[in-house]
Amino acid sequence: MQINDRTVIITGAAAGIGRSLASVCLARGASHVVLADIDRDGASLVAEELGSDATAACCDVASESDVQALVAKTLDQLGRIDIFISNAGVTAKGGLDCTNEQWQQIWEINVMSRVYAARAVVPHMLERGSGCLVQTASAAGLLTEIGSAPYSVTKHADLAFAEWLSVQYGRSGIQVACVCPLGVQTDMLDESDPVHRFLYLQSITAEAAATAVVEGIEAEEFLILPHPDVLEFFRRKASDYSGWLRGMQRLHQKFSGPNAEKRI
Ligand SMILES: NC(=O)c1ccc[n+]([C@@H]2O[C@H](COP(=O)([O-])OP(=O)(O)OC[C@H]3O[C@@H](n4cnc5c(N)ncnc54)[C@H](O)[C@@H]3O)[C@@H](O)[C@H]2O)c1
Repeated sequence: MQINDRTVIITGAAAGIGRSLASVCLARGASHVVLADIDRDGASLVAEELGSDATAACCDVASESDVQALVAKTLDQLGRIDIFISNAGVTAKGGLDCTNEQWQQIWEINVMSRVYAARAVVPHMLERGSGCLVQTASAAGLLTEIGSAPYSVTKHADLAFAEWLSVQYGRSGIQVACVCPLGVQTDMLDESDPVHRFLYLQSITAEAAATAVVEGIEAEEFLILPHPDVLEFFRRKASDYSGWLRGMQRLHQKFSGPNAEKRI
């Protein structure tokens, strides 16, 4: 789908990749961009910077009623939603020590938000015979993230849901894309975490990630990889799962323990 003249909703648009997505979409000729974020003031500030073709909306993507209200209000004001980008996401460090509450919270934000968005907007897109759903997952959804079980699991689920949507609605005029970046220079990368410091070495700017997303949408790609190396890692995993796991185990060992920093 071409971005020119399209109406776009972007969640998590007050900062990071979402904020850059909004500005890249407008630069490509989007007719209007709705910046949805739980951070009302942050979204309003970005909308002001972007001008009259951008509006801010306060929305907690983990709340189905908030997502429904976002879609209803946008339809009321703009008449149509061409592209819905489910980009808001959070991370949580840890493994077996993560509490059930932490698992539930990240599940709601990283996965159920995508279900809520599709439930709210797919009927409208089917009626028009056209629409595009984009989900910002992560390379952790194709591979894994060392040190974070909830992030790895929810990003796999994010990708799985996008895949299912594409199979289900691809022949009904709905384009689906899933974005799987490695490190992107946003607040999500935490300098105190050795894994994130390692990711930072190959990281790209939020603007570069957003540009890759928009180009991927226009090229009608399902899997959008702002870091092309991820495709090679994914191929290696598919062709030799056990060998790939042994490599990841070595990497995990490198990041663990008191000397982690010196080893990177
Ligand atoms: N930064 C990276 O290295 C990286 C890599 C791969 C994937 N991603 C994914 O990209 C997406 C965007 O991440 P980012 O790096 O821009 O993060 P970020 O922390 O810079 O921005 C996230 C935005 O989402 C908003 N948000 C958080 N919870 C929300 C909620 N419940 N409802 C609505 N908005 C909410 C925040 O207020 C913030 O504005 C996420 O899904 C993340 O998992 C990021």
